[in-house]
Formats: sequence, structure tokens, C-alpha cells
Amino acid sequence: MAKRIFSGIQPTGTLHIGNYLGAIRNWVDLQRQAECIYCVVDYHAITIDVDPKTLRSASHSMALDLLACGVDPARSILFVQADVPQHTELAWILSCVTSYGDVARMTQFKDKSEKQEFVTAGLFTYPILQAADILMYRADGVPVGEDQVQHLELSRRIARRFNSRFGEVFPEPEPIVTKGARIMSLADPTSKMSKSAGEAHYVGVMEREASIRRKVRSAVTDVGLAPGETMSPGVANLFLILDIACELVGDATTVAELRADFVEGKLLYSRLKDTVFERLMDVLRPIQERRAKLAASGEVLDILGDGARRATAIAEETMSDVRRRVGLGSSDVG
Ligand code: TRP
Repeated sequence: MAKRIFSGIQPTGTLHIGNYLGAIRNWVDLQRQAECIYCVVDYHAITIDVDPKTLRSASHSMALDLLACGVDPARSILFVQADVPQHTELAWILSCVTSYGDVARMTQFKDKSEKQEFVTAGLFTYPILQAADILMYRADGVPVGEDQVQHLELSRRIARRFNSRFGEVFPEPEPIVTKGARIMSLADPTSKMSKSAGEAHYVGVMEREASIRRKVRSAVTDVGLAPGETMSPGVANLFLILDIACELVGDATTVAELRADFVEGKLLYSRLKDTVFERLMDVLRPIQERRAKLAASGEVLDILGDGARRATAIAEETMSDVRRRVGLGSSDVG
């Protein structure tokens, strides 16, 4: 079992239920088993065009969302990446033990760069910065989605390469993938839920109840049934959301009941949707209430300041070791 956990999320403004049910609830759970370090990765966000007027507030907002979801600053470290600029220093050093070919194989770069008019070198080297995030804290477990497994493999290769050239410094981090929790878009259940596809495609964790009801009610249910399949992707997605929501609120019977009705062909989709909406609100309502209280208290800046201080202490320890081993700088101070 992992002893130290690191994970990061980009400051996209708001969390959606795909992020929460697929990843963040796992971050929250892991706090009971390991030392956890969670990071809002603003350096990663600037690999594509971002508005400097909104980036900082997006970072604050993401931190508030994470705290409301249950990331606990008394147990874990929560900080904003650029508050610890050592991340970029380590990324540069690691980029010099990473083969160009290894980075060029990353499939996420291919997907992301196709959507950009201006493709930055930063978007290309993004996975090396991600490796630096993880290795900086010598984390051995990294909760991520399926789409990040390739980046984790690269992080392990980089750790091995560094260790063999400069001595054993970094453990090899293992991905911790939340099983079966790939929440799909409500409007297009064949693609993963994301903000970039547009309003209709995602449900925000902090979204207003009326709007959530509307989106769940208009979820696509009746297209995409492949021959031989009995459940369309949209219905399967609603059941997945219901399943996790029921688990989170300790409801052990509803899903089995609705599934049995579905099998017998007597489940009305309106009933399925209403139930999904209700259970989802049971999960989201307390999170939204905590978010409102936290935002009003103004304590997020103190929490992030404290998180940055604690992260910096670990980062400086790693960096002075790394600088010395690589032979960088004119002296051993700092
Ligand atoms: N690349 C990750 C994503 O898009 C975010 C991230 C940055 C991350 N640094 C990380 C995740 C370190 C895990 C560990 O989801």
C-alpha cells in the first residue's frame, strides 16, 4: 500500500461530477490511509492559452471545491503548484534525463495538440512537469484517471533513469486508478464527461439544483444501442452515477431494485432519472453547503499559504539533494 500520495488537478474553474465521482472522492478516502499531497496545477494550465485575469481566481476556486469535497488541510497538504517554483526547476533537470522519443510517444499530446492552433513546447513537455510534481515528494502512489496511466509510466522511466545516473533518489510511483468510474457526458454518453464539450455535457458539483435537474432529465438514454446489447450507453451511465451516489450515501437497495425493473422491461427512464437526480443531490448538497461556508470565511488563502510552506519544506530537501548529485550551482548552500 502506498505511503505517500500525490495528485494534481488543473484549475479549470469548477469541478464536475465526473471529476468528483471518478477521482476526487478517492483523494478524500486515501487521506485515511496515507500521507497525501494535493496540488492545483497552474503551471500545467498555461500550456494552452489561458486568460491571466482569471487564472488565479480559478486556482482559488478549485482549491475551495476540493476542500468542500473533503480534502482536509489538517491531514493533507493542499497547495497551488506555482507557489512552489521548485517544480519547474526539477522539471528542467528531469527533461535532461528524458529521451525525446519517450515524450513523443505520449498520446494525450497528440489529442490535445490537434485542438490547438498554437502548439506550445510546454504542451509537449507537460508530462515531464507532471513527473517532477510526483517525484519532488517521492510519492509512491498517484490517484489518476485511466487517461493518465501513460504519463505515470513515463514518470517511472524518468525516475529509473535519474536513479541510475545519479544514485537512488526517487521511488517509482504507481498509478491508483479508480475502478469503473469513467463518467460519460449526459448529452453524448459515448464520450467522457468534460467541461470543454459545453454546458449540456457536464454537471457541476456546485451547480444549482434546478439546473442539475434539467440536465439529468434531458440526459440521452435511447441512442447508441449496439446489436446484442440490452442497455444503451446513456442508461448505463445513469446507472453508474446512481451506483456511486448510492454507495456514498449508504443506500444499499435502490440500485438493485431499479436494475431488476430494467431487466423485466418495466423501468421508466423518467423514474431512473428522478432517482439519479435525488441521490446525486443527497451527495452534492452537503458539499455545496460546505463550499458556501468556506468561501464566506475567506480562509482558503491561509490554507493555501500553509500548504505551500509545508510543500516547500519537502521540495527544498529534494532539490538540495538533486542539485548536489547533479553538480549544479557554485556551492552546496540552498
Ligand atoms: N495531468 C494531470 C491531468 O490532466 C494533472 C496532473 C498534473 C497530475 N500533475 C500531476 C496528476 C501529478 C497526478 C500527479 O489530470
